[in-house]
Amino acid sequence: MTVVSAFNPAPSLERAGATAVTVARSTPPTAGAIGVPVGPKGAVPRPLGVDRATLARYGFEGKPGQTFVGPRTDGPTVIAVGVGDAADLDAAGLRDAAAAFARAAGKEPSLATALADARGLDPAVAAQAVVEGVLLARYGYGALKKESPVQPVSALTLVVSASAAEAATRGAARGQALANAAALARDLANTPPSHLTASRLADLAIEVAASSGLEVEVFDRDALRDMGAGGILGVNAGSAEPPRVVKLTYRPTGTPTGHLALVGKGVMYDSGGISLKPTDPMHTAMKMDMSGAAAVLSAMSALSALEGTATVTGFLMCTDNMPSGSAMKLGDVLTIRGGNTVEIHNTDAEGRLLLADGLVLATEERPDAIVDIATLTGACVVALGASIAGVMGNHQAWIDRLIAVSATTDETIWPLPLERKRYRKLLDSDVADVKNVGGPYGGAITAAVFLSEFVGETPWAHLDIAGPMKVDADESWRSKGATGFGTRLLAEVAAGFTPPA
Ligand code: BES
Ligand code: ZN
Ligand code: MN
Repeated sequence: MTVVSAFNPAPSLERAGATAVTVARSTPPTAGAIGVPVGPKGAVPRPLGVDRATLARYGFEGKPGQTFVGPRTDGPTVIAVGVGDAADLDAAGLRDAAAAFARAAGKEPSLATALADARGLDPAVAAQAVVEGVLLARYGYGALKKESPVQPVSALTLVVSASAAEAATRGAARGQALANAAALARDLANTPPSHLTASRLADLAIEVAASSGLEVEVFDRDALRDMGAGGILGVNAGSAEPPRVVKLTYRPTGTPTGHLALVGKGVMYDSGGISLKPTDPMHTAMKMDMSGAAAVLSAMSALSALEGTATVTGFLMCTDNMPSGSAMKLGDVLTIRGGNTVEIHNTDAEGRLLLADGLVLATEERPDAIVDIATLTGACVVALGASIAGVMGNHQAWIDRLIAVSATTDETIWPLPLERKRYRKLLDSDVADVKNVGGPYGGAITAAVFLSEFVGETPWAHLDIAGPMKVDADESWRSKGATGFGTRLLAEVAAGFTPPA
């Protein structure tokens, strides 16, 4: 039975008009707000029409994150954007500055900025970061409101020198593809749980695949039973909504530089199952428990635009986790694809059960490496706080590469140890090969140790994004609500993938 009623309209992929991003040598007359980068030292650029002493009187010193809006009765608003010392400015700093500019510009739809002409930074990298910062800061989830919560940017002009124009144009296109991908991930995660069921996400994935050049295959409940995917079927057992596994494939035009597999946790709503979650603010965010699957789908949607050189296979593991008379029970034993058995000690530790099936499916593709991404444990939020994701895996060079790329996308991931030697025994079961929880301490690590049972020898890394999947207030390029965390990281890693050494 599929529950479809008037109260839960299906989400659509329509977004209010794409932003026209252009690169020019001077500010176009149509721009309503103009960003002017200002550091802490030296002369203030002429277009601001004020001197440093005046800016200082208003508390603007050119520090990163600061903005000063020069009031105007006619003509475009000129906004001083603090960028700090040129020597310290990196892509993340520039993205933050661009986000601050876009927010300071308020409801103005037409923007121009000289930010991407940053000294010392590759103009392609700089332009990409500025476009990402502006577009992501002005994201808002408006699908279910009469009035949109934000005014989207209709036009963005990067004002750069002639010598930087070609690289900036290339970077701007990349930035737009990546920002659009992250916005898709945010839309999916912000959508209420009864509006975005597993089958609807699979339908949307088919649409996304068609428009972005991906192959797609969808497995329904019967197919999953034939495949022996007992993990996702166990989680789905209590639900009125059927499960879906979506397999996506990106094939590059030339000889592939490698083969990467991505696996995303797609729990459309996590009630905890019969280990029911209590009502608290944290749990109202459980519609976002599919943020991993959203990141995989969205990242892969950008691969053609990014001219990805590797083959990429993605698995979206989609179901909700509900209590009912048919739900899995404590003490039940599930058989994961490939034959490993799992004894259920807590039905709220559901993500690892469907990821286990997903990881086995991924290893069967014989990829050079795997990444899984999941809102997996509250324990990871306790360990690293809400802004940083955990990374664990079985291959140091692979983990190191992900950490390096995460620094450039400003989606910080930080290592926790995959301690099998002493912690694997915490998962010993009396009746099955493994149980699904490992005791009260180190929950992010024991979850990863559980997952490591299902990857064999394939280089693998696991991203636990339970913390940074959302923000409670606007913060730089992160807009209140779902962040799309990991989308740009996965897209960048996948687009240029080569097998880890
Ligand atoms: N989806 C949750 C983890 C989560 C918590 C994500 C908070 C985002 C914010 C996951 O399925 C879960 O319930 N994990 C349990 C595991 C426990 C039962 C071993 C947890 O973290 O409490
Ligand atoms: Zn969950
Ligand atoms: Mn759970």
